[in-house]
Amino acid sequence: MIYHIPWIHTPVRTVLAIWNQLTKTEIPELAKCSVLMRERGRVEETIHSMQRAGAGSLQVISDFDMTLTRFAHNGRRVPTTHNILINRLLISEDCTQKLKVLLNTYYPIEIDPSRSVEEKLPLMVEWWTKVHELLIQQRIRKDLLAQAVNESGTMLRDGYKSFFDRLAEQQIPLLIFSAGVGDVLEEVIRQNQVFHPNVNIISNYMDFDPTGALQAFKGLLIHTFNKREGALSHAAGLKNLQGRPNVLLLGDSLGDLTMADGVSEHQNILTIGFLNDQVEERKESYINSFDIVLVKDETLDVPNAILSYITSSRDKKNIIMQYEDELL
Ligand code: TMP
Ligand code: MG
Repeated sequence: MIYHIPWIHTPVRTVLAIWNQLTKTEIPELAKCSVLMRERGRVEETIHSMQRAGAGSLQVISDFDMTLTRFAHNGRRVPTTHNILINRLLISEDCTQKLKVLLNTYYPIEIDPSRSVEEKLPLMVEWWTKVHELLIQQRIRKDLLAQAVNESGTMLRDGYKSFFDRLAEQQIPLLIFSAGVGDVLEEVIRQNQVFHPNVNIISNYMDFDPTGALQAFKGLLIHTFNKREGALSHAAGLKNLQGRPNVLLLGDSLGDLTMADGVSEHQNILTIGFLNDQVEERKESYINSFDIVLVKDETLDVPNAILSYITSSRDKKNIIMQYEDELL
């Protein structure tokens, strides 16, 4: 038996080496120079493990603004769900100016790598609270939201259709967790024809009075850095997410990393971070925080390639596992 041990281990190692090479050829998107990873080996192991468990064990949790939507197009910023509301159909010129001043004041704080989350937190509450108060004063009309979205120039990232459609076909739940405006978000995905039944949304929803005018926002305020509270109070209760211990998480802010905190008994969490803005200043913290960082990538190519791999036929996996079992 002693003589057999090295003989047994060599082929197993060979099989595992071939397996890793297969990943590289099967997910070539991970070799793009815009893809950064702190521990490539661990990412590959996690993806393998998720593939072995199959689509039935997977859930996807994603941020919305600047994650599922593009950051910019032809050199112009693509509007967030809040910024879609900056339309004369819905708000006055005076309110528009005030919202822009707030954006120019607080967005740089949101993405400032030299400030701690603790320092940012009260300032984010201040920003969202001021914006929501202004929007309520405008008594925004529910029946005009669809037109405002249509006129806004909002854009989902390239490859969005495959992303949403594959998840729906495979019955993989997609939880969109957004500090934006839920009603606007819904309208964006509805107009892009990807509001499928597997989509759940946690966001700031508008409360309209009987005439259809905005009178308040519902529930707990969600801003960029309190998604953990939302995850624990809302996501944990979503029945279709239970029994799915593998999570693919997409975000563009470090605050998005807490969106999976409501997932109990998780096995693998693979996090993908879009680094859209202030790239050099934030690169290091993103690489240290997300498993995969996508630098100025306006597409969903990498998440799509990973999803395609995880949900692909399990034949190859079965052959290799069978081979491993025979050798062991
Ligand atoms: P998200 O959680 O879907 O990314 O939405 C939050 C983003 O919305 C955040 O990055 C900042 C942005 N935002 C605006 O663009 N305008 C606003 O008025 C507010 C309050 C937030
Ligand atoms: Mg975002």
